[in-house]
Amino acid sequence: MKILFINASPHAEASHGHKLAKELIGTIDAEVIERDLSIAPLPPITRDYAKAITSREPDTSLFQLSEQLINEIETTDMLVINTPMHNFTVPASLKLWIDYVLRIHRTFASTPEGKVGLMRDRPTYVIVGSGGFHRGERARQPDFLTPYLEFALGSIGIQDVHFMLLQGLVMGDEAVALAVDAARAEFAKLSHRTHDEASEQAA
Ligand SMILES: Cc1cc2nc3c(=O)[nH]c(=O)nc-3n(C[C@H](O)[C@H](O)[C@H](O)COP(=O)(O)O)c2cc1C
Repeated sequence: MKILFINASPHAEASHGHKLAKELIGTIDAEVIERDLSIAPLPPITRDYAKAITSREPDTSLFQLSEQLINEIETTDMLVINTPMHNFTVPASLKLWIDYVLRIHRTFASTPEGKVGLMRDRPTYVIVGSGGFHRGERARQPDFLTPYLEFALGSIGIQDVHFMLLQGLVMGDEAVALAVDAARAEFAKLSHRTHDEASEQAA
């Protein structure tokens, strides 16, 4: 079992989502590959890359970084992503990762019916940290993060995506503790279900 852990929080290890991700990963007997998009940000998309990605006969040497990031997914069985909400959606660091990983003819195909994912599905857990609320009774802002990330991952074939929301993180220690407890309980429920499904399939 191998897990790819992607962190997109600039707070790195001080991020509540990062701590929770580590805690949850620690409950699984697995080798972990870490990709920290904040400590080691990906370079912006260059003109040459943009040209290559839309070209029929691209210079494949330009795809080196893209290949590396895609390989990190391919060689692992589970994806864990810690991302903050930045201005209602994913932070720029995670958007760049998406821009390198979603590649035509490689991770998705364009068909008359639309984009079709070419990657194997795998359980994916996304922890979303937000200062305020975007879900539930206290929501005062839209959420363009979870539907966008779900669609982006789905477009390459990763459909088994579960979100754990850490909301209200700038509202004091009590709010943080409540959010973390709720996310922990959600993960326990989800991982039980995954385990039950795996047992049913094995039976
Ligand atoms: C540039 C920027 C934009 C932000 N935009 C939002 C936002 O749209 N909604 C929100 O609830 N919080 C927003 N926040 C607050 C963060 O989501 C919050 O600090 C959260 O704790 C980040 O999680 P982290 O500690 O894991 O990085 C923003 C923070 C930054 C730095």
